[in-house]
Amino acid sequence: MILAETIEELQKAKHNLKGTIGFIPTMGALHKGHLSLIQQARNENDIVIVSIFVNPTQFLEGEDLDSYPKREEADKKICEIAKVDILFMPNIGEMYEDDELNISAPAIRGYILEGERRPKHFDGMLQIVMKLLNLSSSTNAYFGKKDAQQLVLITRMVKNYFIPCNIIACDIVRDDLGLALSSRNAYLSEDDKKEALKLSSSLYYATKMIISGKKESNIIIQEIKNILKCDNIKIEYISIVSRDFKPLEVVEIGNTIILIAVFIGNTRLIDNIWI
Ligand code: PAF
Repeated sequence: MILAETIEELQKAKHNLKGTIGFIPTMGALHKGHLSLIQQARNENDIVIVSIFVNPTQFLEGEDLDSYPKREEADKKICEIAKVDILFMPNIGEMYEDDELNISAPAIRGYILEGERRPKHFDGMLQIVMKLLNLSSSTNAYFGKKDAQQLVLITRMVKNYFIPCNIIACDIVRDDLGLALSSRNAYLSEDDKKEALKLSSSLYYATKMIISGKKESNIIIQEIKNILKCDNIKIEYISIVSRDFKPLEVVEIGNTIILIAVFIGNTRLIDNIWI
C-alpha cells in the first residue's frame, strides 16, 4: 500500500497503476461499515483508493470537529489488510486555500432534515467530495446508505456537474444487535448503546407495519415515536420521504426511506431503512 500525504504523492502513485479505480472517502476511525465498502470496491475495481480526511468545512460551530475520533495507525493497518492500493491522508493546507469558491447544496433537498439541523454541513461535504472525486479520478465511488441524504446529494452533484464517476450506494452495516455502525458510536456508554438499539428496532417495526399493509406515514411515525420514547433519547426528526427526498404521506414500496435522527445523551445518531 502506498501512503500519499500530498496531492503530488497521490498523483505519482496513481500514475504507476492502471485500470478502474474504486474510491472510498472517509473521515477515518474506520469500522466494519467502511471495511465492507473497501471490500466491495476491491471486488469491483483494479485499483482501490481510500482517503482519510476530517473535513472542517462540514462541521458546524460547536460540533465535534476537535474531538472527532482519530485512530491513524489502526486505520493504516486496516487499509493494508484490506489490500487498499493507495491511502490518501492529506492535511488541511493540502486541500484548501484562502477565499475558495463554494458549492451550495440544492435549495430544497439540501436544507431539510440533516440540512435544516446542520445548516451548511452539506455545502462543506459536497465541496470536499467534489475535490476528492476529482483528485482520485475514480471510476466508482462507494458511499453507505446510512448517510442517506448525503448519498442522494452526492449522486445529484455528480449528475449536475457531469463528473465521470459512478456513485455506488452500499447497504448499512449493523452490529449483531442491530446498531448501525458509525465512528460516533465510540462516544456511547454501555447504557446509551442499549437505548440506541431502539433506533433499529423501531425501523424494523415500521417495516413490519408496512408489510402488513399499514402504509400511512403519520401512523408509522407515531409508532416509531412510541418505541423511541425514553428519558435519554431526544428525537430530532422522524421522516418518511421518497428516494429523492420528497415527503411521502403514504409509503411507496421501492421508493421510500424512513429516517430517524436523535440525541442519546450528547451523542447525535442517525439511522434509516430503505423500503
Ligand atoms: O461520510 C463521511 O465520512 C464524510 O461526509 C465524507 C463523505 C468522507 C466527506 O468528508
